Amino acid sequence: MFNKDIAGRLAKLKTPFYYYDMDMLDKTVGLIRKEAERYSYKIHYALKSNANERILSKISSSGLGADCVSGNEILMALKTGFRAKDIVFAGVGKTDEEIITGINNDIFCFNVESIQEMEVIDKLSSERNYTSRIALRINPDIEAYTHKYITTGIEETKFGINIWELDNVIETLHSLHNIELIGLHFHIGSQIRRMNAFKSLCTRVNELQTWFENRNITIDHINVGGGLGINYDDPDEIPDFEEYFGIFNELLELRSGQTVHFEPGRSVTGQTGSLITRVLYIKNGSHTNFAIVDAGMTDLIRPALYQAHHKIENIISQKAREKYTVVGPICESSDSFGKYIELSLTERGDLLAIRSAGAYGEVMTSNYNLRNKAPAVFSVDL
Ligand code: LLP
Repeated sequence: MFNKDIAGRLAKLKTPFYYYDMDMLDKTVGLIRKEAERYSYKIHYALKSNANERILSKISSSGLGADCVSGNEILMALKTGFRAKDIVFAGVGKTDEEIITGINNDIFCFNVESIQEMEVIDKLSSERNYTSRIALRINPDIEAYTHKYITTGIEETKFGINIWELDNVIETLHSLHNIELIGLHFHIGSQIRRMNAFKSLCTRVNELQTWFENRNITIDHINVGGGLGINYDDPDEIPDFEEYFGIFNELLELRSGQTVHFEPGRSVTGQTGSLITRVLYIKNGSHTNFAIVDAGMTDLIRPALYQAHHKIENIISQKAREKYTVVGPICESSDSFGKYIELSLTERGDLLAIRSAGAYGEVMTSNYNLRNKAPAVFSVDL
């Protein structure tokens, strides 16, 4: 991705910044569309993974829908060209104001996470003479084999409605007249690399479909959420959408006319972005050399928050390799991007690329230490 020419151009820019490879984004979006179209699957891109306006405009122009988790995400999705009829709105804590934003814009569906939320959506809808379409987000109690902070589908996380509560849900639904149940929604976690987790999800969806069928409730669509992981060791690898969709095609037992919806985030944007940072100082420790860089956990919090691994490359130096611990300038020991990692011999002024940072990178930046937020640079503008 970073040949000498690109590295030379990047070296002239003020660091740190997010660098987006728009070719990679095109390829990834093209591939996910092609593979999803085989089975007429509907894709709602999860804005939370990257809400950069130019990235969003590109994704919306390819015809994908949007998965939003706040009123502002709905407004941003509309602003960047996503159609209201392709927007789903999830989240355990939707405020009245955010629900009204969804209603006023006639979005496709609210993914509802509790009985009380259902009642509030019904009330706000009835006050506006409107019927909201909802999907029940059910907690399927499935292990996703990923980091505990991004596991969402096991019992006793705050997400979704527990299976044992479904009888109550159905009873409540009968008493509400301004919501229409159109779907079932699931999301078991993020950065899932073991496909068995998705297979177990399919089995649970099949069981639940029978449960609803036995109660004469028709479901139009099944939304299986997002979660497909990316290969952080190989930032040039596009996720295997063929295998992923193939699992659902093989294992989901759909009823006639049902559509299947997905909410991928990381798998769409993850490999398109790198955080580019400059080496400020090399400092010798007793066991390691520290490469102190000008990006910190304020620019990319994933390593500090989830002990996440991002491949790091020196894109300037071609010299023999050495081990470094790459750290940022923030006054926290967790402000580290990688311990004892091999880099080409690194000097003050070199540029490091922290790869696979397109998802949950720029969106999770902060101004801690009153630092400026890293701007975005696009390959097509270089
Ligand atoms: N749908 C729902 C309901 C979600 O909660 C999420 C992500 C997605 C879709 C998209 O999942 P993806 O395809 O991106 O895995 N900040 C963390 C990830 C948090 C994921 C939250 N939910 C990280 O940096 O790893």
